[in-house]
Amino acid sequence: MGWWWWKPGLNLSTARRDLLSYSLSSHFSLSCQMPRIAVIPGDGIGVEVVAEARRVLAALDDAETLDLELVDWDLGAERYLRDGIAITEEEFRALADDHDAVFLGALGDPRVPGMEHIKAILLELRFKLDLYVNFRPCVLPLARLSPLARTQKPFRIDTFRENTEGLYTGLGGSFKTGTPDEIAIEKDLHTRKGVERIIRAAFEYAESRGRGRVTLVDKANVQRFVGGLWRKVFEEVGEAYPRISQDSMYVDAMAMDLVRRPDHYEVLVTSNLFGDIISDLAAEVTGGLGLAPSANIHPGQYALFEPVHGSAPDIAGQGVANPIGAIRCVSLMLEYFGYEHLGDRIETGVLASIENGITTPDLVGGKSSTEEVGSWIASYVESAST
Ligand code: NAD
Ligand code: IPM
Ligand code: MN
Repeated sequence: MGWWWWKPGLNLSTARRDLLSYSLSSHFSLSCQMPRIAVIPGDGIGVEVVAEARRVLAALDDAETLDLELVDWDLGAERYLRDGIAITEEEFRALADDHDAVFLGALGDPRVPGMEHIKAILLELRFKLDLYVNFRPCVLPLARLSPLARTQKPFRIDTFRENTEGLYTGLGGSFKTGTPDEIAIEKDLHTRKGVERIIRAAFEYAESRGRGRVTLVDKANVQRFVGGLWRKVFEEVGEAYPRISQDSMYVDAMAMDLVRRPDHYEVLVTSNLFGDIISDLAAEVTGGLGLAPSANIHPGQYALFEPVHGSAPDIAGQGVANPIGAIRCVSLMLEYFGYEHLGDRIETGVLASIENGITTPDLVGGKSSTEEVGSWIASYVESAST
C-alpha cells in the first residue's frame, strides 16, 4: 500500500486502516490506462447522493490528477415515463462495450410499480455482463453508531452475494391468471458453476485480507436440492483454504444472530435473495443502510458500483439522504482501478466526518444535510494532499 501521501495529523492506526480499507486484491481489481465510467444517478436520492460522491471525486482529482473519464447517462424513471423505453439496445451496448465500469445511484420510483426500468438497466447489467460477485462490505467505524446497545468495538461484515442466479432469473409464470384458482411460480435456479465461483470469490477475499472465518448462509433444512448443492460445493472449495474457519448458518438463524452478536461474523457467502436481505441487515447493524457501498463485479472484466440502499422516495428531495454509501462507492471503485491509497483517503475522510458529528439525521444526533456531509468530506480529502 502506498502511504507516500500521508501527512502528519492524518495518521490512521494499523487496526483502523485494516478495518476501513476494502483490500480488493488483484483477484478482483482491474488495471486499465484511463478507466471510462458511466455515471447513472438514477432516481430519488440516487441523484442527491451521486452529486456528493462526484464532489468528493472531483476534490481528489484536483489534488491528484486522476486518470478517470466520467460519462453522464440520463437513465431512470423520468426517461422511462417520457419515452416509454428504459434503455435502447444501442445504449446498452455502448454502456457495456465503451465503458469499464458503471457508477449507479439508485433506481426505483413509485410511478413505475412494475420496476420495468430497474429490470432493463440494473438487473440486465448484472446478468448480461455476468457480474456474479456482489461484494457488500459493511463497516461499523465507531461503536456508538451501532443501534445495538451491547456493541463494544468497531467491526466489519463482508457479504458475498451471488448476483446472477437464484430467484432473480425471472423464470416462472402464472397460470389461470385473474381467476380464483390463479397459480404463480418463481423458479429458484442454481448452477454448480454459479455457486462455485461466488464461494471461491469469498474464500479468495478472506485469504487475501487475512480474515479468519467464512460463513455460508442458506436454508438447507428446507431447500434440500439447492441447499445440498451449496453445502457440497462450499465444503469442496473450502478444502483449499485450511487456515480459514468454515461454517454454515440457516438464513433465519443468521438474521437473529446478526442482531445478537454481529461481530462474530467476518465474511458471508450466500445466494441472490438471501444476500439482498442479509446485506440490508448487516448495513443497519454497522451504523445504517445509508453508509453501505457495494460492487457488482465480474473479476477482470467489468464492474458496477452502487450503494446498497435504494431511491428512498420517503426522503427524496429533502436534502437529508446520507451520501456516505455513494461516497464509499467512489473509494471502492478507486481501489478496483488500483488507486488503493486514494480509496483509503476517502475512507479516512468519511470516518473523520462521523467523528466530528458531520452526519445526516439517519445517524444518531446527525443534523447536517446531504450537501454539507459531501462538501465536508470533499474538503477533507482535498486538504489531506496539500
Ligand atoms: P430504500 O433502500 O430506498 O429505503 C429503505 C429505508 O431506508 C427508507 O426509510 C429510506 O428513507 C432509508 N434510507 C435509504 N437510503 C438512505 C440514505 N442514503 N440516507 C438515509 N436514509 C436512507 O428501500 P425501499 O424504500 O424498499 O425502495 C425504494 C425504491 O428503491 C424501490 O423502487 C426499490 O425497488 C428501489 N431499490 C433500488 C436499489 C438500487 O437501485 N440498487 C436498491 C434497493 C431498492
Ligand atoms: C439491491 C436492490 C435490488 C435487488 C432491486 C432494486 C432489484 O434491492 O441492489 O439490493 O434486489 O438486487
Ligand atoms: Mn436490496
